[in-house]
Amino acid sequence: MANPFTAIFNMFKSAGESVLGIDIGSSSIKVVQLRKHSGQAILETYGELALGPYSGIEIGRATHLPADKLSEALIDVLRESNTTTKKCGISIPLPSSLVSLIEMPAASDSQLAQMIPIEARKYIPVPITEITLDWWIIPKNDSTSVASQSNQAPSNGLEVIPKVDVLVVAIHNEAINKYQDIIRKTAIDSSFFEIEIFSTMRAVLTEENSTVMIVDFGAGSTKLYIIDQGIIRVSHTINRGSQDITLAMSHSLNISIAEAENLKRTSGLSYKKDGTNVAQTMSATLNFVFSEANRVLLNFERRYNRPIANVVLSGGGINLKGFVEAAAAGFQAPILIADPFKKLQAPAFLDPVLKGAGPEFAVAIGIALRRLQETE
Ligand SMILES: Nc1ncnc2c1ncn2[C@@H]1O[C@H](COP(=O)(O)OP(=O)(O)OP(=O)(O)O)[C@@H](O)[C@H]1O
Ligand SMILES: [Mg+2]
Repeated sequence: MANPFTAIFNMFKSAGESVLGIDIGSSSIKVVQLRKHSGQAILETYGELALGPYSGIEIGRATHLPADKLSEALIDVLRESNTTTKKCGISIPLPSSLVSLIEMPAASDSQLAQMIPIEARKYIPVPITEITLDWWIIPKNDSTSVASQSNQAPSNGLEVIPKVDVLVVAIHNEAINKYQDIIRKTAIDSSFFEIEIFSTMRAVLTEENSTVMIVDFGAGSTKLYIIDQGIIRVSHTINRGSQDITLAMSHSLNISIAEAENLKRTSGLSYKKDGTNVAQTMSATLNFVFSEANRVLLNFERRYNRPIANVVLSGGGINLKGFVEAAAAGFQAPILIADPFKKLQAPAFLDPVLKGAGPEFAVAIGIALRRLQETE
């Protein structure tokens, strides 16, 4: 098949270096190749490969593959997508990590570097030797209130200790070792690992998004992130994803998983068959996800006294026909659909295709954008 991007490659031959974003999802690997030209991120190529066949299971299902199989699949998708560079970044799945927001006394960076690992132990249920820790001090939204806090003499004579919020991220060393192994086996040049939350945020958020909940409806799980003024406040994983709809259909209709996956993709939520309650079975997974997400949403609103303006939908699972309508009725805030390709320059004729593919590629695009920033 002729590569529709060849023309773009030629047009921007003199432009900057190409970079790759790689997202190893539970059901498929996604890759996106970008290049910078006149300050714009240009889409050069992208592609996806289902992992099921590498694990002896159906397309669309979540897998747990070892590094050598993942490397094999990654080599295949890089070749099939006509990528031309090894420079990349890789996302780490949220389930391999733990994100907590903790409050610390305001101290110097070096003091915090000593204090945070000790404090983090209270929040992280695995031995500190099994994880790699990273953290960010969250800037206060209202800098004047911090200044007044530290300058004002408190009326009761007690000293007010200023506090800072710190976002602590722990990644299992096992996951890091596995990804390093994949990099070695694939012979790619990855300069960072990034937890998929941050990649998704970079890819889907726009200037107008003040307080939003991002919902990534993947194959194996659904990930929720609440972002307030560009800062992540909540992250939560729901152990249900689009594969649960397939499995329920297969069970309820007594058909193979491959047939059910096919039926899910072609008919969507409107599928009806006399004498079965398959529509209800499909909705059960969605209703579980919606009610759990609404619980997280309402908890946030209550705790921070701030309304969620929008729910941004991402992940391949939202391509289910009828999903957007169901989500509009099911969520307690107006919905938006992630459109990460909008951040990239691409030929206009591809617009409809890219709009449809966007939710699936959000993580890979976010990674590629970060790697592109590094080349500046
Ligand atoms: N057109 C479609 N209709 C219904 N479901 C779809 C469609 N396209 C993809 N899916 C479903 O979306 C899921 C894949 O989504 P995605 O690629 O976001 O998951 P993933 O990143 O591999 O998984 P995870 O994020 O859970 O690790 C699969 O379960 C697949 O069946
Ligand atoms: Mg995913």
